Amino acid sequence: MKIVVAGGAGFIGSHLCEYLLTKSHEVICLDNLLTGNKKNLKNALKYKQFRFIKTDVTHKLPEDLGKIDAVFHLASPASPNLNSPISYHTLAMETMLVNTQGTLNLLNLAHSNKARFLFASSSEVYGDPQVNPQPESYRGNVSTTGPRSVYDEAKRFGETLTSYFVRKKNLDARIARIFNTYGPRILPQDGRMLTNFILQALSSKPITLYGKGEQTRSLCYVSDTVMGLTSLMFIDNLAGEIVNIGTTKEHMVKEYAKMVKELTHSNSQIVSTEKLPQDDPLVRRPDINKASTLLNWFPKVKLPQGITETINYYRHA
Ligand SMILES: NC(=O)c1ccc[n+]([C@@H]2O[C@H](COP(=O)([O-])OP(=O)(O)OC[C@H]3O[C@@H](n4cnc5c(N)ncnc54)[C@H](O)[C@@H]3O)[C@@H](O)[C@H]2O)c1
Repeated sequence: MKIVVAGGAGFIGSHLCEYLLTKSHEVICLDNLLTGNKKNLKNALKYKQFRFIKTDVTHKLPEDLGKIDAVFHLASPASPNLNSPISYHTLAMETMLVNTQGTLNLLNLAHSNKARFLFASSSEVYGDPQVNPQPESYRGNVSTTGPRSVYDEAKRFGETLTSYFVRKKNLDARIARIFNTYGPRILPQDGRMLTNFILQALSSKPITLYGKGEQTRSLCYVSDTVMGLTSLMFIDNLAGEIVNIGTTKEHMVKEYAKMVKELTHSNSQIVSTEKLPQDDPLVRRPDINKASTLLNWFPKVKLPQGITETINYYRHA
């Protein structure tokens, strides 16, 4: 198959490109390198059936792509960290546009090719949930105007556009609501929790928690997320389906900090320095019954194994 991966030079996208290449697909990565990096494509670029095109998907898409069979849309800043230069706060307008105009452009590309489409949505569409765990039927508790709305509402509108194409244009499109994913290749300046803890631990700096670190997170290793995304794309008869992709194992943020400290054998202190950011969800855990029923998908990588692989990557990066 010939497959477009928008956002393929990013963290999840680059692992997805590599997986698709190992399955002998032809892969075209469309990425403007806003929050991604060509270094992430080091392995992918070794395959002759891989093509990287530096382009902004909110603009007119390249016309020389040939007949395409599937489009994965993963292009979007994804870091919620207020202090990061590549977070969706700093890149607010880019985030709103890539999930709306960018989604529309990529939907049109899929439609004109009669290709399948997958939109990488987010658990953030549930906002600060009043239901835990969150099933796909939960409509969320989202502020339309708060600081996180530039991401949350853009993802929600991306979902609306995608479901419009399914309803009105008969497009075979699917929506993945990805929950927190971790693993190698998140950029150091991205500021996501686990990467931060690992970088702090490896450099013997204090491991810093927001508040007391008692908010919970469930983290899914990137290879499991990629398996979830590809299953959702390639299994037949799932047009219009929305599926949570994430792990149900929930831990307090301070527990992740402790695990990182132990696995890195670091002398770093775990300190509580900053207040909780506004609208930061206190709990976040997917209900993955739908993924297990429709896709026969379950996360497999255990936390110590995934954290160790991630630590090894940053030790040598
Ligand atoms: N990582 C997670 O935990 C997580 C959780 C929920 C949802 N998601 C979603 O999954 C997708 C991938 O996330 P990630 O963590 O790999 O993020 P990332 O920032 O590492 O990757 C996103 C990629 O999209 C590219 N991009 C951004 N705007 C673009 C544009 N206008 N045109 C072309 N390329 C553009 C970036 O350069 C980058 O390579 C995103 O849509 C994100 O919202 C991720």
